[in-house]
Amino acid sequence: MNIILIGPPGAGKGTQAKRLVTERGMVQLSTGDMLREAKTSGTEMGNLVADVMARGELVTDEIVIGLIAEKLDSLGDAGAIFDGFPRTLAQADSLEALMASKGSAIDHVIEMRVDDDALVARITGRFTCATCGEVYHDTLRPTKTDGVCDVCGGTEFTRRADDTEDALRTRLLAYYKQTSPLLGYYHAKGSLKVVDGMAEMSAVSVQIADILEK
Ligand code: AP5
Ligand code: ZN
Repeated sequence: MNIILIGPPGAGKGTQAKRLVTERGMVQLSTGDMLREAKTSGTEMGNLVADVMARGELVTDEIVIGLIAEKLDSLGDAGAIFDGFPRTLAQADSLEALMASKGSAIDHVIEMRVDDDALVARITGRFTCATCGEVYHDTLRPTKTDGVCDVCGGTEFTRRADDTEDALRTRLLAYYKQTSPLLGYYHAKGSLKVVDGMAEMSAVSVQIADILEK
């Protein structure tokens, strides 16, 4: 089964994707993570997109479609979670064509709905384990032991350069202007499902599980 998680910055896409990886062995394909990885390893493309990402704007369709196409080549049968992709209609068209060329398709597009006001608090309090990538929050999801990752025991954590109120404003604008038209597109195709992303994390997981098991 292949799914798309769609929602504004801070909606909980990464958090739920990681749970699906652990619980169902699905593969998370996050273009945000791929781009940050390229930035950290100092590749030419990584350097090229660093400023665009820090400002909160979208990088070009060509770059992200290229990244996804590479990953699809080595995708097994586990099922994919597209997290943060597609974000434009051009990306949605390319994904459909790429999947069709592999004899596959998207089964569900899950919109995670969260109020804008809640997103600021979520984004500005987020931190991530530098070793395993587990996502935490200063108050909403702290580590059980202060300074130690619950999952891998790592003690180094990072905060994203674009997790500022200024960049979030730009990211939200990009979401409403460039990404939200996809909701109508997938609704018309009959694949859109909506979950209440304001609910507690485990309750959101239950809503997603209900969709996958139908
Ligand atoms: P990307 O990395 O995709 O970021 P995003 O879409 O802005 O989403 P986030 O990762 O910020 O949020 P999330 O929904 O995963 O929330 P999370 O689970 O972490 O993209 C970054 C940038 O890369 C873009 O701005 C763009 O420049 C570029 N890019 C990426 N893909 C692209 C594409 N396809 N095309 C063009 N450009 C692209 O949760 C957030 C916080 O809330 C956490 O602290 C978490 O603990 C907490 N939380 C989660 N769920 C809950 C809950 N239910 N209740 C309370 N707290 C919760
Ligand atoms: Zn960790």
